[in-house]
Amino acid sequence: MSTPDAIRWNNNQLELLDQRALPNTCAYLSYDRAEDVAHAIRDMVVRGAPAIGITAAYGMALACRQCGEQPSVAAWTKALAAPRQTLADSRPTAVNLFWALQRCDLVVEQYGNGPGLGSAMLALAQQIHQEDIDINRRIGDHGATLIEPDSLVYTHCNAGALATGGYGTALGVIRSAWREGTIRGVIAGETRPWMQGARLTSWELMQDAIPVTLATEGAAAQLMRELTPSWVIVGADRVAANGDVANKIGTYNLAIIARHHGVKMMVAAPTSTFDRTMDGPDIPIEQRSASEITHSQGTAIAPQGCPAHNPAFDVTPASLIDAIVTEHGVIHQPGRDTIAAHLDKATTGGAS
Ligand code: MRU
Repeated sequence: MSTPDAIRWNNNQLELLDQRALPNTCAYLSYDRAEDVAHAIRDMVVRGAPAIGITAAYGMALACRQCGEQPSVAAWTKALAAPRQTLADSRPTAVNLFWALQRCDLVVEQYGNGPGLGSAMLALAQQIHQEDIDINRRIGDHGATLIEPDSLVYTHCNAGALATGGYGTALGVIRSAWREGTIRGVIAGETRPWMQGARLTSWELMQDAIPVTLATEGAAAQLMRELTPSWVIVGADRVAANGDVANKIGTYNLAIIARHHGVKMMVAAPTSTFDRTMDGPDIPIEQRSASEITHSQGTAIAPQGCPAHNPAFDVTPASLIDAIVTEHGVIHQPGRDTIAAHLDKATTGGAS
């Protein structure tokens, strides 16, 4: 059994697997308006950096259809400005969102003066979607070369098929290493408050018959001491120019704990998740509603009126990361120079 597609284009509509209801209910919601797609991203129907980027591109394809034909690039740009902005405002941290929208802008420039921009935008969304699956398989295979035989690994949040076009980044590495026979098991941190580890990662791995054990986040240090995993493997929402990595809140804690216990830290991410324009401290961190912490499935679990702070992501300093794996290879000891060299080589067609 394999994980169902998080995103599909069906009958001229965008269909998103409602990840809020998993694993108990597996149901798709249909979208034909860009504004509704933006709400779906913000409300966590679809989540995970690459999946957010792919979804935004489909959102722009829907926006083109909503606008009807426009006579020029200038007219298209004006007509698309509002839906584009709504999509851009949906979630601030995953840079894949902005990367995808910039690719959409190029299509407007290229096709906006003639007929057929709508089909070109849809073709772009489908291309980004397909490319992402191929990229994840390459990330998986590069990452798997780092996994020693008989490894137990630890993962956080969900950086799997559900968070991407398919296969996954961190779970892509785990899938490839499992196929190679080097992984004997995976510990999945539950990942409060949305429980992506408990609800999504354990579900994906169980469907692939990869042995997974769920743990509370507070158990991480104790489990690292007792079970000595070889790697923590996570995805990323933004890799900064200096090698710092924004990822799901709790990743930074894990990196500190891992370093203390001699466990190596791997980040698996496509180059579309890299942002050369800023360093880690400048990455915008999404702040989500306090009610996500004070309530669980609609029921209050904290005293009424209790203040809560709910950053959705944190930034792990590059010095705590042993390797970042992209579709082009492995960046060992990531930092400003190694990141720049890797990305420069990637854009000139080389691999490291
Ligand atoms: O809030 P989420 O569920 O969108 O956060 C997801 C993560 O932090 C993932 O680790 C990251 O986006 C990488 S997904 C391949």
